[in-house]
Amino acid sequence: MNHAYIRSYTMGRYLLIPFAFMFISCGTEKNRVSRDTFGRMPDGRQIDLYTIKNNSGAMVKITNYGAIVVSLIMPDRNGQSDDIVLGFDRLEDYLNDNPYFGCIAGRFANRIGKGRFSIDGVDYQLTINNGENHLHGGLEGFDQVVWEAEPVFQQQSAGLKLTYHSFDGEQGYPGNLDITVFYLLTDRNELKIEYSAKTDKATICNLTHHSYFNLSGDPATNILDHELMIVADAFTPVDSGLITTGEIAEVEGTPMDFRQSKKIGMDIDADFGQLKYGGGYDHNWVLNDYDGRVKKAASLYDPGSGRLMELYTDQPGLQFYSGNFLDGSRKGKHRIAYPFRSGLCLEAQKFPDAPNKPGFPSVLLRPGEEYHQTTVYHFLIK
Ligand code: GLA
Repeated sequence: MNHAYIRSYTMGRYLLIPFAFMFISCGTEKNRVSRDTFGRMPDGRQIDLYTIKNNSGAMVKITNYGAIVVSLIMPDRNGQSDDIVLGFDRLEDYLNDNPYFGCIAGRFANRIGKGRFSIDGVDYQLTINNGENHLHGGLEGFDQVVWEAEPVFQQQSAGLKLTYHSFDGEQGYPGNLDITVFYLLTDRNELKIEYSAKTDKATICNLTHHSYFNLSGDPATNILDHELMIVADAFTPVDSGLITTGEIAEVEGTPMDFRQSKKIGMDIDADFGQLKYGGGYDHNWVLNDYDGRVKKAASLYDPGSGRLMELYTDQPGLQFYSGNFLDGSRKGKHRIAYPFRSGLCLEAQKFPDAPNKPGFPSVLLRPGEEYHQTTVYHFLIK
């Protein structure tokens, strides 16, 4: 990726147009974003569903509940547009039992062993929601909170600015944390996600986006034929509870090697301890040459549709989860039952259990510092 491309990500400026003024803005913008009511929270708060379109046949639907991408519509090689992410048609289904479909996960995405960590000699205990461990922000992570949303517009793109105030002690985390997430759908068929966060007390912060992709557009099928490439010479092995051991292991000669694109199903059932622990792929890859700049991290290709997704991020890690906990019991959009491995996640992030692994990149955030992440999912046809 050339530097101009990087610059466009790091220097992008968002023109905030309050919703009320949107309809007096120039003609093209008002057609890009529309808002409907999605439903109500149990306490009566209204939840909205925003539809954002571009000039290239793509569309994304985002709700301010959990900052969830509900639908992502992309054309295939024949110009046929399909929804390529798993999700639900109704807010109620997200409220009832959402395996993080489409959400922003945090305050700390991924797992923290026993939900415990220390900062400056002070011990903290988070809520436990995954066996004996803490996952994706705990019993009520950012996937389950109501965000404030407003449309934003940039040249040849439009999207949403979502903000959330996470209070000191929420799920056991120290510090009041103010989070901003921009989702932007561009005319190049990119879904750009920019995150920032600030705290008033030393805390930890590691956010990610958790869409389950099925590039075929048919979530009744599995993703084992998708071809995946990950720019990583190493990964972080886990124990049986999927907590990282602290090692950084070479992928060379193992089923974890995605340096050359290969079908996800090629090695997924190999006799390899890490795959046994995960019930498939459910690991963090250590992206090469991490320096905090946006770089290509992965590509995913569906030969049937010709859809190609390229992932760029400034993060050091990428969690690849092959949908091993999907089992056909959930009925998603259009009441389609989602079978085993019918969607996969590519979650840009810092490393799992980093607060307890001194050898991993830090996830500490102190007052006066800013957490920042840029991740781009770029959709093309091959
Ligand atoms: C992440 C984890 C998986 C799984 C999913 C949500 O991807 O790595 O183990 O918990 O979230 O189900």
